[in-house]
Amino acid sequence: MKVRKAVITAGGWGTRFLPLTKSQPKEMLPLIDKPLIQYAVAEAINSGIEQIILVTALGKNAIEDYFDHSFELEYFLEQRGETELLKEMRALSNLANICYIRQKEPLGLGHAILATRDIVGEEPCAVLLPDDIIDSKVPALKQLLKVYEEHKTNVIAVERVSRQETVNYGIIEPKQISDRLYRVLRLVEKPEPDNAPSNLGIVGRYILMPEIFATLKVTPPGKKGEIQITDALQLLLERQEVIACEFAGVRHDAGTPLGWLKANIALALNHPDIGPKLKEYLSKLL
Ligand code: G1P
Repeated sequence: MKVRKAVITAGGWGTRFLPLTKSQPKEMLPLIDKPLIQYAVAEAINSGIEQIILVTALGKNAIEDYFDHSFELEYFLEQRGETELLKEMRALSNLANICYIRQKEPLGLGHAILATRDIVGEEPCAVLLPDDIIDSKVPALKQLLKVYEEHKTNVIAVERVSRQETVNYGIIEPKQISDRLYRVLRLVEKPEPDNAPSNLGIVGRYILMPEIFATLKVTPPGKKGEIQITDALQLLLERQEVIACEFAGVRHDAGTPLGWLKANIALALNHPDIGPKLKEYLSKLL
């Protein structure tokens, strides 16, 4: 069955970015001139996804407003003859078919995904975490979808992380299938380096079979007392395969101040207008 729907999770408190995130959704932080969430939406659309289910929470209204029509703004731009900007604003509100659902309690990523059960229904779905910005020639999700087409099972994105960093990721025990593909034998959420089964860390892109929902329903709270998608996939391994794909591309963790700054600098350096001026500024600064 074709993967038509993508879940984008934006319900978290953004604790790694406090105090900023006290009154502003971290998903609306800018990456050059667009909010983080737009990169995840664009990646889904460019991968052939038809419907996006955005999981939000209290205090995240700015996200819904961003993808909506703003009659006032469009009228204002029209009056001023700003046709290019007007076109851009209209394109933005027509960018995707998005529906919203609220995560009413901050009980973790697995809990956020479970909230979409009735909207996704009995079909496979993609999941994107907007903190993970992936700069790649072929959209990372599209790379995963290609693997799904071949294997018709759960697929997750992974990349090599340093040993000290295993505490920040879901880590897999891999059995290599081919160049960039692994059969997952075991998954552990944020293990200490000594207990990590490898240094292949999960990145926020998943293709999940519909059985994940029944599994999430019986997954007990794990790390930080939250329902973890990593734990649910570990349970699902008893019945279904999980394939890990080491995608081609550069990934930034824009959910921390340093990662966000790095992502901005890396993307801006490649930007046709900003890049040369930024390079000049940085070399002076250093
Ligand atoms: C989540 C997942 C983790 C994964 C990470 C990727 O953690 O729980 O398994 O490795 O995303 O970004 P978070 O970063 O939300 O704590």
